[in-house]
Amino acid sequence: MSRAKRKTEHIQHALSTADQGTSGFDDIAFVHQSLPDIRISDIHLHTTLGELSLSSPFFINAMTGGGGQKTLEINKGLAEAAKHCQIAMAVGSQMAALKDDKQRETFEIVRKVNENGIIFANIGSEATVDDAKRVVDMIEADGLQIHLNAVQELVMPEGDRDFTGALLRIEQIVQTVQVPVIVKEVGFGMSRETALRLKEIGVKIVDVGGFGGTNFACIENKRRSNIIAYFNDWGIPTAASIVEVVQTSPSLVVVGSGGVRTALDAVKAIALGASAVGMAVPFLRTLVEQGVEALVAYIEELHRDLTLIMGALGARTIDKLQRVPLVIRGDTHHWLTERGFDTKIYSCR
Ligand code: FNR
Repeated sequence: MSRAKRKTEHIQHALSTADQGTSGFDDIAFVHQSLPDIRISDIHLHTTLGELSLSSPFFINAMTGGGGQKTLEINKGLAEAAKHCQIAMAVGSQMAALKDDKQRETFEIVRKVNENGIIFANIGSEATVDDAKRVVDMIEADGLQIHLNAVQELVMPEGDRDFTGALLRIEQIVQTVQVPVIVKEVGFGMSRETALRLKEIGVKIVDVGGFGGTNFACIENKRRSNIIAYFNDWGIPTAASIVEVVQTSPSLVVVGSGGVRTALDAVKAIALGASAVGMAVPFLRTLVEQGVEALVAYIEELHRDLTLIMGALGARTIDKLQRVPLVIRGDTHHWLTERGFDTKIYSCR
């Protein structure tokens, strides 16, 4: 099957597959404060991702490009909304454009539409240093996402079967490219062990890409005749994954993503320690089903809700939101306790 056809199948199946399992955000409860002592108009949504300055913690996570006209139109619409709302945006894996020059425009459109916006390039861990430089140059990217998707590849009928050497390639890319590198999962979550290995080779920003939202085992299974069902429930739920990575090292900058579906989910991700929050399918669905204007309205609503919740919590900035008290319950508490993480750090601060 051609790469372009695979890209359009991913979109179709991502939209038809409901979120699977739980991201764990339901296990997070804020401690209500009756005296928030705050003026809503004083609340700032500005955040930083390493050296990158973002006017909002929300960004459009990597999805598409490389599948011809349809993916060009989606990237155009996403870029228009990102520009209007001044949020960052990632493109999908650019490997397709490295293999086929004709696919370049499906990614380049994003920079064309949003000349001054924050845009992330995207490539898999099979990429060489040269590949990485080329995808960054292609869209004059402000950052580079390197995705880790071993389980997706295993379920994908035509997927990779050799995962050796990824860490070394990532290390070489981090040492060479001129923009910040974000290593991300695609919905299976990141563990303390993975985060530690990435940190050791110089990675500074990690996107946990946790379990509970878009599920690439389910998506790839829809493309198979003989289903590999056991991977459908595989992964670290996003809330637990954020804590795993945040507590691995205070110097790691963490992006919370995977199953973030509301502003409240985003607030919980940030309060657990994330500096920014990526969302993919909710933005794609709104764009495809209702158009750019509806996507802009949706992002504006997320910003409004984020502001209101920060108001209730008395947090004027994203930095302050990262320090509000919360209680971790249920399966997420069980997971974190079994893994040796101290949940009282959150409840007694
Ligand atoms: C993705 N995602 C993805 N990630 C990546 O790093 N490179 C890629 O090329 C793609 N491609 C892609 C295509 C489609 C159609 C979707 C829906 C998603 C994964 C995405 O960035 C994100 O990690 C997951 O979708 C989980 O986030 P949500 O959807 O639960 O918010």
